[in-house]
Amino acid sequence: MIIPDTVDKIMDATRIEEVVGEFVTLKKRGANLLGLCPFHNEKTPSFTVSVAKGIYKCFGCGKGGNAVNFLMDHEHYTYPEALKYLAAKYGIEIEETKPSPEQQQAMDEKESLFALTAFAQKYFQEQLHETEEGRSIGLTYLKERGFSLEVIRKYGIGYSLNKWDAFCQEALSKGYKKEYLLKTSLAKSKDQQLYDTFRGRIIFPIHNLSGRVLGFGARILTNDKNKPKYVNSAESDIYHKSKVLFGLYFAKTALAANDNCLLVEGYTDVISLYQAGIENAIASSGTALTSDQIKLIRRYTSNITLLFDNDPAGIKAAFRGIDMILEEGMNVRVVLLPEGEDPDSFARENRPAEVKAFIDNNAADFISLKTQLLLKETQNDPIRKAARIKEIAQTISLIPEPIARTLYIQKCGELMKVEEKLLVAEVNKLRRKKFSQQRTESPQEEATTLTHPAEETSEKQTTLTITNDFQEKEIIRLLLHYANHDILFEVENEGRKEEVAIKVLDFIVQDILDDKLEFENEDCKLIFDLFVQSRQDGRQPNNQSFTNHTDERIRNMVVDLLSTQYTLSKNWEDRHHIFIDHEEDILKATVMQAVYAFKLRKLEKMIELNQQQLKTAQENQDISEEEVFKLLETNNSLKIIRSRFAKELNRIVTR
Ligand code: GTP
Ligand code: MN
Repeated sequence: MIIPDTVDKIMDATRIEEVVGEFVTLKKRGANLLGLCPFHNEKTPSFTVSVAKGIYKCFGCGKGGNAVNFLMDHEHYTYPEALKYLAAKYGIEIEETKPSPEQQQAMDEKESLFALTAFAQKYFQEQLHETEEGRSIGLTYLKERGFSLEVIRKYGIGYSLNKWDAFCQEALSKGYKKEYLLKTSLAKSKDQQLYDTFRGRIIFPIHNLSGRVLGFGARILTNDKNKPKYVNSAESDIYHKSKVLFGLYFAKTALAANDNCLLVEGYTDVISLYQAGIENAIASSGTALTSDQIKLIRRYTSNITLLFDNDPAGIKAAFRGIDMILEEGMNVRVVLLPEGEDPDSFARENRPAEVKAFIDNNAADFISLKTQLLLKETQNDPIRKAARIKEIAQTISLIPEPIARTLYIQKCGELMKVEEKLLVAEVNKLRRKKFSQQRTESPQEEATTLTHPAEETSEKQTTLTITNDFQEKEIIRLLLHYANHDILFEVENEGRKEEVAIKVLDFIVQDILDDKLEFENEDCKLIFDLFVQSRQDGRQPNNQSFTNHTDERIRNMVVDLLSTQYTLSKNWEDRHHIFIDHEEDILKATVMQAVYAFKLRKLEKMIELNQQQLKTAQENQDISEEEVFKLLETNNSLKIIRSRFAKELNRIVTR
């Protein structure tokens, strides 16, 4: 590991404008430098470099960070690689500590797994092209499906012979250990005998971002309904399904260049589209889309187009995907293919230009799509229409960014012919519910009656999972973006009203410390403590110290949160003749909202705990009347505070 002192030296020597300047032409504009964003396609520059702050930020696509982040993003370096690049550039000698024996062992083991998957990929590819069985069965199949030799080579597709242990024998004879054959699930064992996992299948290698092979998807060649169509590598120390997207290694430049990512379901969809000249498609490969996968895409573009089958299963998957993507603050569009087609068949049956045109012309934003599908289904039945509107409102309520929410509400109002006011109310209701996990009963009633604890928890659990640490992250996001910004408060001073400016840092930290509230998310807690520390030391908090934190999780979270500021579509703004505030203009409300939501969430937890205790007390005869009474009292006062908080939050949200 590079020692912290060296990291400091490197960061001190680094000039952001010189680092970025090697890749982007920058022009002076006021205090900053301006250029065309290298992360998305643009004609007017919105990529800004602040020499003073040592950071870059694109106001078009939202990408931002320091010099190290730039190199990681643009050159796809790892953190140590980026530091080494800078050290070389500025002539700084690197001092490294030796990894501990455990770290060394873990690294060695991973390397061994990688060595084996690389060997296996080469082996399978060779079998496909060089053996009789591979050519007559594997290659023939692939050619019949219309894949060109060029893409077959490009994706490193292979074939596993239909033999019991051909691959295992070869690997063992080359010195690869049995242990690793099992860990990569390339082999299985039966009665102490190893055998090949993917016998008689077409092999699709799955690559990480730097092109190393993590695992494989293996397709059967027959129509045997008794066997799975695909057998995939199991999770291993190098292969984590939820964090990998098939095809991303080959597509990443195209994602950035098109500023859009086409998301499909299968390996063959990706490959056929590539062959048709559509290079920005990737697949989640059978698993439901995860937030880690969406974050991975966000490194290249904030726009995702889902390309799904036009059948109930495809539509359902699309709806699920939409909600996930919106929750991550990204933009989503959906293309439903003509009935009976999947991207693979569609790309094969049509000319490349037609495929492109179809996607461009049929990409619907999610509101239009949901409206269209739902209206078709409801046939003007007002009751069912109302239910569908609620569903759309539910989706809109997932969007973290207020401006985007407002825009979608307007659009939905137009399309569904409902008053915007009603939609706003519905969405706000859902968001409050999300923030507070609150039941819909009136707060007054809640404060005085005791609901049955069991009922309450079961209903809560469903909503809990979505919001887990949303509030905590929002607090950290605001600190990272605006710690040094002032917000104005009105105070009375000797009967006169005065405005005082308070720093966002001071306001948030003081408020949370006063109430002795703790963060639950470990990373959030760590970052918050760093803010508290810098405030105590009278230092200005500096994002550089976070984006350069030694802990990779912290670094990632900070970079993530630094780039989650929603950027509005200029297009939309112009088309709808509306002017939207930027977050900075509504900073006070945003900060207050975040703090209240955070507290409300804590309160919810306290109430939950109290109710657990009450439940135990009710079941346990030994507990005295007095103690039960105390618990009930606590219960009441907690609920009173909660309804006060909820009202306050409501006032801020709906203002
Ligand atoms: P083709 O039928 O060859 O065109 O493959 P496909 O990729 O289009 O498959 P399909 O649309 O049926 O499924 C989409 C994705 O789901 C596949 O790429 C696989 O990742 C996954 N999948 C499909 N069938 C199975 C299976 O039987 N087992 C597992 N584990 N995954 C599967
Ligand atoms: Mn298919």
